[in-house]
Amino acid sequence: MMESNRQWLLRRRPVGALSADDFGLHRTPVPAPSSLRDGELLLRHRMFVCAPTMRNWMQDSPNALHPTIPLNQPVLAPAGSEVIASRRPDLSAGARVTTFGSWQEYQVAGADHPVTLLSDDVSFVEALGVLGFNALTGYFGMMRVARPQPGDVVVVSGAAGSTGSIAAQVARIQGCRVIGVAGGPAKCSWLRNECRLDAAIDYRSEDVSRRLAQLCPDGIDVFFDNVGGDVLQAAVARMKKFGRIALCGQIAGYDSNGPVAGPRDMMRLIYGSVTMQGFLVGDYAGDWNAAREQLREWIAAGLIAHREDVRHGFEDLPQTFMSLFDGSHQGTLLAAL
Ligand SMILES: NC(=O)c1ccc[n+]([C@@H]2O[C@H](COP(=O)([O-])OP(=O)(O)OC[C@H]3O[C@@H](n4cnc5c(N)ncnc54)[C@H](OP(=O)(O)O)[C@@H]3O)[C@@H](O)[C@H]2O)c1
Repeated sequence: MMESNRQWLLRRRPVGALSADDFGLHRTPVPAPSSLRDGELLLRHRMFVCAPTMRNWMQDSPNALHPTIPLNQPVLAPAGSEVIASRRPDLSAGARVTTFGSWQEYQVAGADHPVTLLSDDVSFVEALGVLGFNALTGYFGMMRVARPQPGDVVVVSGAAGSTGSIAAQVARIQGCRVIGVAGGPAKCSWLRNECRLDAAIDYRSEDVSRRLAQLCPDGIDVFFDNVGGDVLQAAVARMKKFGRIALCGQIAGYDSNGPVAGPRDMMRLIYGSVTMQGFLVGDYAGDWNAAREQLREWIAAGLIAHREDVRHGFEDLPQTFMSLFDGSHQGTLLAAL
Protein backbone atom coordinates (compact mmCIF):
# COMPACT_ATOMS: atom_id res chain seq x y z
CA MET A 1 0.00 0.00 0.00
CA MET A 2 1.30 3.50 -0.86
CA GLU A 3 2.58 5.42 2.20
CA SER A 4 0.52 8.50 2.97
CA ASN A 5 1.67 12.03 3.74
CA ARG A 6 -0.30 13.41 6.68
CA GLN A 7 -1.03 17.14 6.61
CA TRP A 8 -2.73 19.55 9.01
CA LEU A 9 -4.74 21.99 6.89
CA LEU A 10 -6.13 25.34 7.94
CA ARG A 11 -9.86 24.70 7.52
CA ARG A 12 -11.20 28.13 8.45
CA ARG A 13 -10.03 31.54 9.65
CA PRO A 14 -9.90 31.34 13.45
CA VAL A 15 -12.08 33.72 15.45
CA GLY A 16 -10.74 34.52 18.91
CA ALA A 17 -8.88 31.73 20.67
CA LEU A 18 -7.82 28.88 18.40
CA SER A 19 -9.97 25.77 18.36
CA ALA A 20 -9.22 22.24 17.20
CA ASP A 21 -11.97 22.71 14.58
CA ASP A 22 -9.87 25.37 12.83
CA PHE A 23 -7.65 22.56 11.55
CA GLY A 24 -8.27 19.33 9.66
CA LEU A 25 -6.13 16.24 9.23
CA HIS A 26 -5.69 15.23 5.61
CA ARG A 27 -3.78 12.50 3.77
CA THR A 28 -2.14 12.67 0.35
CA PRO A 29 0.32 10.28 -1.30
CA VAL A 30 3.99 10.83 -0.46
CA PRO A 31 5.60 12.55 -3.49
CA ALA A 32 7.75 10.11 -5.46
CA PRO A 33 11.48 10.94 -5.58
CA SER A 34 11.39 10.16 -9.30
CA SER A 35 8.93 13.05 -9.81
CA LEU A 36 11.46 15.69 -8.63
CA ARG A 37 12.59 18.28 -11.17
CA ASP A 38 15.98 20.01 -11.29
CA GLY A 39 16.64 22.01 -8.11
CA GLU A 40 13.85 20.35 -6.11
CA LEU A 41 14.18 18.53 -2.80
CA LEU A 42 11.95 15.98 -1.13
CA LEU A 43 12.00 16.81 2.57
CA ARG A 44 10.76 14.81 5.51
CA HIS A 45 9.95 17.20 8.33
CA ARG A 46 11.21 15.99 11.71
CA MET A 47 10.45 18.97 13.94
CA PHE A 48 8.41 22.17 13.83
CA VAL A 49 8.83 25.38 15.81
CA CYS A 50 5.58 26.63 17.32
CA ALA A 51 5.86 30.39 16.73
CA PRO A 52 3.10 32.73 17.96
CA THR A 53 3.18 34.80 14.78
CA MET A 54 1.81 31.78 12.86
CA ARG A 55 -1.50 32.76 14.47
CA ASN A 56 -1.28 36.06 12.54
CA TRP A 57 -0.64 34.17 9.29
CA MET A 58 -3.97 32.34 9.81
CA GLN A 59 -5.88 35.61 9.37
CA ASP A 60 -7.06 36.91 6.02
CA SER A 61 -4.82 39.97 5.82
CA PRO A 62 -4.20 40.78 2.15
CA ASN A 63 -2.50 44.10 2.88
CA ALA A 64 -0.34 42.87 5.75
CA LEU A 65 3.44 42.58 5.60
CA HIS A 66 3.23 38.93 6.67
CA PRO A 67 2.15 35.79 4.77
CA THR A 68 -1.43 34.55 4.80
CA ILE A 69 -1.99 30.79 4.92
CA PRO A 70 -4.51 29.85 2.20
CA LEU A 71 -7.55 27.91 3.43
CA ASN A 72 -7.33 24.13 3.00
CA GLN A 73 -3.54 24.30 2.76
CA PRO A 74 -1.01 23.05 5.34
CA VAL A 75 -0.18 25.55 8.09
CA LEU A 76 3.14 27.31 7.41
CA ALA A 77 5.80 26.70 10.05
CA PRO A 78 9.58 26.85 10.54
CA ALA A 79 10.89 23.28 10.35
CA GLY A 80 13.87 21.02 10.83
CA SER A 81 13.92 18.45 8.03
CA GLU A 82 15.78 15.56 6.51
CA VAL A 83 16.52 15.49 2.78
CA ILE A 84 15.00 12.29 1.39
CA ALA A 85 15.85 12.92 -2.26
CA SER A 86 17.65 15.79 -3.95
CA ARG A 87 17.97 17.31 -7.41
CA ARG A 88 20.31 20.02 -6.07
CA PRO A 89 24.03 19.47 -6.65
CA ASP A 90 25.02 20.87 -3.24
CA LEU A 91 22.67 18.71 -1.12
CA SER A 92 22.42 14.95 -0.93
CA ALA A 93 19.91 12.57 0.59
CA GLY A 94 20.46 12.26 4.33
CA ALA A 95 21.43 15.94 4.82
CA ARG A 96 19.62 17.78 7.61
CA VAL A 97 18.34 21.31 7.03
CA THR A 98 16.18 24.01 8.57
CA THR A 99 13.61 25.66 6.35
CA PHE A 100 10.29 27.44 6.14
CA GLY A 101 8.00 24.43 5.80
CA SER A 102 4.42 23.56 6.53
CA TRP A 103 2.50 21.13 8.72
CA GLN A 104 2.95 17.95 6.72
CA GLU A 105 5.27 14.98 7.02
CA TYR A 106 6.75 15.26 3.53
CA GLN A 107 7.13 18.33 1.36
CA VAL A 108 8.69 19.10 -2.01
CA ALA A 109 10.84 22.25 -1.78
CA GLY A 110 11.03 24.09 -5.09
CA ALA A 111 14.30 25.13 -6.73
CA ASP A 112 14.18 28.61 -5.17
CA HIS A 113 13.04 27.46 -1.70
CA PRO A 114 15.79 28.40 0.80
CA VAL A 115 17.14 25.75 3.16
CA THR A 116 20.03 25.98 5.64
CA LEU A 117 22.31 22.96 5.95
CA LEU A 118 22.98 21.80 9.53
CA SER A 119 26.39 20.58 10.58
CA ASP A 120 26.63 17.15 12.25
CA ASP A 121 27.30 18.62 15.69
CA VAL A 122 23.99 20.53 15.86
CA SER A 123 20.75 18.73 16.75
CA PHE A 124 17.34 19.84 15.50
CA VAL A 125 16.50 20.90 19.06
CA GLU A 126 19.54 23.19 19.20
CA ALA A 127 19.11 24.49 15.64
CA LEU A 128 15.46 25.42 16.23
CA GLY A 129 15.86 26.25 19.93
CA VAL A 130 18.76 28.12 21.46
CA LEU A 131 20.38 28.75 18.06
CA GLY A 132 17.08 29.19 16.21
CA PHE A 133 15.30 32.24 14.91
CA ASN A 134 13.71 33.15 18.25
CA ALA A 135 17.12 33.26 19.90
CA LEU A 136 18.41 35.38 17.01
CA THR A 137 15.41 37.66 17.44
CA GLY A 138 16.25 38.18 21.11
CA TYR A 139 19.88 38.80 20.21
CA PHE A 140 19.33 41.30 17.36
CA GLY A 141 16.39 43.04 19.00
CA MET A 142 18.52 43.70 22.03
CA MET A 143 21.91 44.38 20.42
CA ARG A 144 20.83 46.29 17.30
CA VAL A 145 17.50 47.87 18.20
CA ALA A 146 17.56 48.44 21.98
CA ARG A 147 21.37 48.93 22.16
CA PRO A 148 21.82 48.49 25.93
CA GLN A 149 24.70 50.20 27.72
CA PRO A 150 26.35 48.88 30.89
CA GLY A 151 24.35 50.01 33.92
CA ASP A 152 21.12 50.46 31.93
CA VAL A 153 17.84 49.37 33.50
CA VAL A 154 16.30 46.90 31.04
CA VAL A 155 12.80 45.41 31.22
CA VAL A 156 11.72 42.46 29.05
CA SER A 157 8.14 41.18 28.68
CA GLY A 158 7.44 37.55 27.77
CA ALA A 159 10.80 37.11 29.49
CA ALA A 160 10.56 33.38 30.24
CA GLY A 161 9.76 32.54 26.62
CA SER A 162 11.96 31.48 23.74
CA THR A 163 12.74 35.00 22.49
CA GLY A 164 12.43 36.96 25.72
CA SER A 165 14.76 34.76 27.76
CA ILE A 166 17.60 35.29 25.27
CA ALA A 167 16.93 39.04 24.99
CA ALA A 168 17.00 39.38 28.79
CA GLN A 169 20.23 37.41 29.20
CA VAL A 170 21.95 39.27 26.36
CA ALA A 171 21.20 42.48 28.26
CA ARG A 172 22.53 40.94 31.49
CA ILE A 173 25.74 39.95 29.68
CA GLN A 174 26.07 43.58 28.53
CA GLY A 175 26.20 44.64 32.19
CA CYS A 176 22.61 45.85 32.56
CA ARG A 177 20.23 45.52 35.48
CA VAL A 178 17.49 43.31 34.02
CA ILE A 179 13.88 42.80 35.10
CA GLY A 180 11.74 40.13 33.43
CA VAL A 181 7.96 40.09 33.23
CA ALA A 182 6.39 36.61 32.97
CA GLY A 183 3.32 34.60 33.96
CA GLY A 184 3.44 32.57 37.19
CA PRO A 185 5.84 31.93 40.09
CA ALA A 186 7.66 29.02 38.42
CA LYS A 187 8.65 31.09 35.37
CA CYS A 188 9.66 34.03 37.59
CA SER A 189 11.82 31.84 39.77
CA TRP A 190 13.51 30.34 36.65
CA LEU A 191 14.26 33.90 35.48
CA ARG A 192 15.84 34.85 38.81
CA ASN A 193 17.70 31.62 39.56
CA GLU A 194 18.70 30.17 36.19
CA CYS A 195 18.77 33.23 33.93
CA ARG A 196 20.20 35.29 36.80
CA LEU A 197 18.02 38.34 36.20
CA ASP A 198 17.91 40.95 38.94
CA ALA A 199 14.15 40.69 39.41
CA ALA A 200 11.03 39.18 37.90
CA ILE A 201 7.43 40.40 37.90
CA ASP A 202 4.57 37.92 37.75
CA TYR A 203 2.03 39.83 35.66
CA ARG A 204 -0.69 37.31 36.49
CA SER A 205 -0.62 38.02 40.23
CA GLU A 206 1.15 41.38 40.57
CA ASP A 207 0.35 44.94 39.53
CA VAL A 208 2.99 45.52 36.82
CA SER A 209 2.89 49.35 37.05
CA ARG A 210 3.34 49.31 40.82
CA ARG A 211 6.16 46.75 40.69
CA LEU A 212 7.95 48.71 37.93
CA ALA A 213 7.71 51.83 40.11
CA GLN A 214 9.31 49.92 43.01
CA LEU A 215 11.99 48.19 40.95
CA CYS A 216 12.86 51.09 38.61
CA PRO A 217 12.47 54.22 40.77
CA ASP A 218 14.60 56.24 38.32
CA GLY A 219 12.90 54.83 35.23
CA ILE A 220 13.60 52.33 32.43
CA ASP A 221 16.33 52.77 29.80
CA VAL A 222 15.31 49.85 27.58
CA PHE A 223 12.03 47.99 27.19
CA PHE A 224 12.01 44.87 24.99
CA ASP A 225 8.36 44.06 24.32
CA ASN A 226 6.96 40.69 23.26
CA VAL A 227 3.44 41.29 24.53
CA GLY A 228 1.97 44.79 23.88
CA GLY A 229 -1.21 46.11 25.51
CA ASP A 230 -1.23 46.84 29.24
CA VAL A 231 2.37 45.74 29.81
CA LEU A 232 3.62 48.06 27.07
CA GLN A 233 1.54 50.89 28.54
CA ALA A 234 3.01 50.28 32.01
CA ALA A 235 6.56 50.43 30.63
CA VAL A 236 5.94 53.52 28.49
CA ALA A 237 4.81 55.37 31.58
CA ARG A 238 8.20 54.73 33.25
CA MET A 239 10.61 55.26 30.33
CA LYS A 240 13.64 57.44 31.05
CA LYS A 241 14.72 60.36 28.87
CA PHE A 242 16.20 58.96 25.61
CA GLY A 243 14.91 55.46 26.44
CA ARG A 244 14.56 52.80 23.72
CA ILE A 245 11.62 50.45 23.19
CA ALA A 246 12.21 47.45 20.91
CA LEU A 247 8.84 46.19 19.62
CA CYS A 248 9.33 42.49 19.03
CA GLY A 249 5.79 41.09 19.31
CA GLN A 250 2.24 41.77 20.48
CA ILE A 251 1.13 38.35 21.65
CA ALA A 252 -1.57 39.84 23.89
CA GLY A 253 -3.49 40.65 20.70
CA TYR A 254 -2.88 37.60 18.51
CA ASP A 255 -6.01 35.78 19.65
CA SER A 256 -8.28 38.81 19.43
CA ASN A 257 -8.71 39.16 15.63
CA GLY A 258 -7.62 42.77 15.86
CA PRO A 259 -4.67 44.82 16.96
CA VAL A 260 -4.03 45.22 20.66
CA ALA A 261 -4.26 48.85 21.84
CA GLY A 262 -1.05 50.88 21.63
CA PRO A 263 0.29 53.20 24.33
CA ARG A 264 -2.35 55.67 25.53
CA ASP A 265 -0.05 58.64 26.06
CA MET A 266 2.22 59.25 23.09
CA MET A 267 3.16 62.66 24.57
CA ARG A 268 5.11 60.66 27.18
CA LEU A 269 7.33 59.40 24.33
CA ILE A 270 7.68 62.88 22.86
CA TYR A 271 8.65 64.56 26.12
CA GLY A 272 10.96 61.64 26.92
CA SER A 273 12.62 61.67 23.47
CA VAL A 274 11.94 57.93 23.56
CA THR A 275 12.57 55.79 20.47
CA MET A 276 10.08 53.00 19.77
CA GLN A 277 11.15 50.71 16.92
CA GLY A 278 9.65 47.55 15.49
CA PHE A 279 11.92 45.01 13.85
CA LEU A 280 11.98 41.57 12.25
CA VAL A 281 14.72 39.03 12.76
CA GLY A 282 14.92 38.75 8.96
CA ASP A 283 16.21 42.34 8.85
CA TYR A 284 19.53 40.96 10.09
CA ALA A 285 19.73 37.76 8.00
CA GLY A 286 23.19 38.65 6.68
CA ASP A 287 24.57 38.53 10.24
CA TRP A 288 22.79 35.41 11.54
CA ASN A 289 25.86 33.16 11.36
CA ALA A 290 28.01 35.57 13.35
CA ALA A 291 25.25 35.91 15.96
CA ARG A 292 24.95 32.12 16.23
CA GLU A 293 28.69 31.91 16.88
CA GLN A 294 28.38 34.53 19.62
CA LEU A 295 25.46 32.68 21.21
CA ARG A 296 27.38 29.39 21.09
CA GLU A 297 30.31 31.04 22.85
CA TRP A 298 28.08 32.41 25.59
CA ILE A 299 26.31 29.06 25.99
CA ALA A 300 29.65 27.23 26.25
CA ALA A 301 30.76 29.74 28.89
CA GLY A 302 27.61 29.02 30.92
CA LEU A 303 26.25 32.55 30.43
CA ILE A 304 22.93 31.59 28.83
CA ALA A 305 20.27 29.38 30.36
CA HIS A 306 17.73 27.95 27.95
CA ARG A 307 15.06 25.31 27.82
CA GLU A 308 13.14 23.60 25.09
CA ASP A 309 9.73 22.02 25.53
CA VAL A 310 9.62 19.17 23.01
CA ARG A 311 6.19 17.63 22.42
CA HIS A 312 5.80 14.49 20.34
CA GLY A 313 3.25 13.41 17.76
CA PHE A 314 2.02 14.75 14.44
CA GLU A 315 -1.61 14.11 15.45
CA ASP A 316 -1.30 16.56 18.35
CA LEU A 317 0.25 19.47 16.40
CA PRO A 318 -2.71 21.88 16.75
CA GLN A 319 -3.02 21.15 20.50
CA THR A 320 0.72 21.63 20.94
CA PHE A 321 0.59 24.94 19.07
CA MET A 322 -2.29 26.19 21.24
CA SER A 323 -0.19 25.87 24.41
CA LEU A 324 1.67 29.00 23.26
CA PHE A 325 -1.36 31.06 24.16
CA ASP A 326 -2.05 29.69 27.64
CA GLY A 327 1.59 29.87 28.76
CA SER A 328 1.63 26.19 29.75
CA HIS A 329 4.87 25.47 27.86
CA GLN A 330 8.38 26.11 29.19
CA GLY A 331 10.83 27.78 26.80
CA THR A 332 10.96 27.14 23.06
CA LEU A 333 7.96 25.05 22.08
CA LEU A 334 8.94 22.37 19.54
CA ALA A 335 6.85 19.61 18.00
CA ALA A 336 8.80 16.47 17.09
CA LEU A 337 7.28 14.11 14.51
N1 LIG B 1 9.96 40.44 15.49
C1 LIG B 1 10.37 39.22 15.15
O1 LIG B 1 11.10 38.99 14.18
C2 LIG B 1 9.93 38.06 15.99
C3 LIG B 1 10.51 36.79 15.82
C4 LIG B 1 10.12 35.77 16.70
C5 LIG B 1 9.17 36.00 17.70
N2 LIG B 1 8.61 37.25 17.79
C6 LIG B 1 7.61 37.56 18.82
O2 LIG B 1 8.18 37.29 20.09
C7 LIG B 1 7.14 36.98 21.02
C8 LIG B 1 7.50 35.72 21.77
O3 LIG B 1 7.52 34.63 20.85
P1 LIG B 1 8.16 33.23 21.26
O4 LIG B 1 8.14 32.36 20.06
O5 LIG B 1 9.44 33.47 21.96
O6 LIG B 1 7.08 32.62 22.26
P2 LIG B 1 7.23 32.32 23.80
O7 LIG B 1 7.52 33.60 24.50
O8 LIG B 1 8.13 31.16 24.02
O9 LIG B 1 5.76 31.83 24.16
C9 LIG B 1 4.72 32.71 24.19
C10 LIG B 1 4.54 33.23 25.64
O10 LIG B 1 3.82 34.43 25.58
C11 LIG B 1 3.09 34.58 26.77
N3 LIG B 1 1.70 34.92 26.44
C12 LIG B 1 0.83 34.20 25.74
N4 LIG B 1 -0.35 34.85 25.64
C13 LIG B 1 -0.19 36.02 26.30
C14 LIG B 1 -1.04 37.13 26.56
N5 LIG B 1 -2.30 37.17 26.08
N6 LIG B 1 -0.55 38.15 27.29
C15 LIG B 1 0.72 38.11 27.76
N7 LIG B 1 1.57 37.09 27.55
C16 LIG B 1 1.11 36.07 26.82
C17 LIG B 1 3.15 33.26 27.53
O11 LIG B 1 4.13 33.43 28.55
P3 LIG B 1 3.69 33.71 30.07
O12 LIG B 1 3.36 32.37 30.64
O13 LIG B 1 4.88 34.36 30.66
O14 LIG B 1 2.48 34.57 29.98
C18 LIG B 1 3.69 32.31 26.50
O15 LIG B 1 4.47 31.30 27.08
C19 LIG B 1 5.86 36.88 20.20
O16 LIG B 1 5.14 38.10 20.33
C20 LIG B 1 6.36 36.70 18.79
O17 LIG B 1 5.44 37.13 17.82
C21 LIG B 1 8.98 38.27 16.97
